[in-house]
Amino acid sequence: MNPLRSSVLSALLPPGVVVVGTRVGLPVLAMATLRLSSSSSFFAYQQQKVGLTAPQRPPSSFASTSPPPPLVVCSIPDRHHLPLSHSSAEASSGRISLGFCTRQSVGFCTRQQSWNRNLAVVAAAASVTEVGGGGSSSTISREEVVREDDPTNNVPDTVFGKIGLQLHNRKSHPLGILKNAIYSYFDETFPGVFHKVDNLLPIVSVKANFDDVLTPPDHVSRSYNDTYYVTADTVLRCHTSAHQAELLRQGLTHFLVTGDVYRRDAIDATHYPVFHQMEGLRVFTQQEWEAAGMDGTALAAQELKKTLEGLARHLFGDVQMRWVDTYFPFTDPSYELEIFFQGKWMEVLGCGVTEQQILCNNGCAGTTAWAFGLGLERLAMVLFDIPDIRLFWSNDSRFTSQFKSGQLGTKFKSFSKYPPCYKDISFWISDEFSENNLCEIVRGIAGDLVEEVVLIDEFTNPKKGKTSHCYRIAYRSMERSLTDDEINALQAEVRQQVESKLKITLR
Ligand code: PHE
Repeated sequence: MNPLRSSVLSALLPPGVVVVGTRVGLPVLAMATLRLSSSSSFFAYQQQKVGLTAPQRPPSSFASTSPPPPLVVCSIPDRHHLPLSHSSAEASSGRISLGFCTRQSVGFCTRQQSWNRNLAVVAAAASVTEVGGGGSSSTISREEVVREDDPTNNVPDTVFGKIGLQLHNRKSHPLGILKNAIYSYFDETFPGVFHKVDNLLPIVSVKANFDDVLTPPDHVSRSYNDTYYVTADTVLRCHTSAHQAELLRQGLTHFLVTGDVYRRDAIDATHYPVFHQMEGLRVFTQQEWEAAGMDGTALAAQELKKTLEGLARHLFGDVQMRWVDTYFPFTDPSYELEIFFQGKWMEVLGCGVTEQQILCNNGCAGTTAWAFGLGLERLAMVLFDIPDIRLFWSNDSRFTSQFKSGQLGTKFKSFSKYPPCYKDISFWISDEFSENNLCEIVRGIAGDLVEEVVLIDEFTNPKKGKTSHCYRIAYRSMERSLTDDEINALQAEVRQQVESKLKITLR
């Protein structure tokens, strides 16, 4: 959310209510929360403005903030020298590292660069996920990613089970269809120019995910409440911007990176802990801006807008659009593109002119660039009329059979609406309570049978100084009717785990 709009909204809300930003990737929700820790805010707002407490090491896997690693700093050189070579798109291929499954390989970050081939899931959600392609495969063991005894790890089994599924690489899946439609636009507009990468491992270093894209040490996106940490130094990438620096270092100057990204978050029809993003980046040389008679930043900004307006028209037809100023740590100026679609303004993507320091740190001194990041689910839900984000993960043929490779915008026909079942849970919270932790517990127990978790009541007892929350959990399967016994068992387990793990007192 644009910080400006945030502050306007804040003025309309009761004291103590903080308006949080939205993440690029999912539909815009004007979210207000009483607690920053339960926000889904991410990069698009300035953390400084909301006064976070100092980061600290978590006492358990449900702790809320992360240690701030140092930032890489470089001096910004004169823009007028060192034009960048347009090196071959093949720069990143051919270096394949196997043996990923060994315990010693936990330093995933070192292998990330060389992990560049088709990943095909052979077994997911088991104790070992086998990934590989082209005749060889490798495995990531559950123990490497879900390490319950390590307080710096907060990856649950439900999330581990999604690694390697690569929905975006399925040609007849809405996300694959959308990815290919975006590829077509870039291929038609810039024939042979953009290199496409869609198989990078989602386990990346903290450095790649945050430091390399200049995320401030105390930025909320680094917190354990918002990001999945595998170790203190490795995370499940929370955005595809995690690959900007490495691809620049490999010499790529025009690229699109697509992949699954992971964020701890609320539960509702538009939020899921795993979703998909596409990142684009294009570098400009001094010759290019001189030939255009502009300065490098102005050319990048102009080209960015032209390119993305064209993309929006390619996907949505002749729509009304507007540019909204925003903030990202990695771009300046930064914008969100919104389109007027189906009667309302919808945020389509975040983008901007890449910070000089990123270019300079990664072998591209003397250039400028634009970058964008868009969420595939968010756009696919609108383009294909898909009402619930869980459907993207469904193997039910009543869902999968409705989409065909190359057919963007086929309207999804709901095949059932099984009745929901609502269960409430009330408790006195402690200072450490975070809604994301609650949601993770519910998701861990009920999986995709949970449709929504909503705070329906909240009050503070002034004498005791204690605050009570009541959440309504909606259970509903998209594929079958749930029995009372089944739901009661789930709810009993939720109550038990919430009480034992969240330091709350059930009412
Ligand atoms: N990484 C940003 C996000 O996930 C999106 C973005 C990418 C914005 C590139 C600007 C440039 O919110």
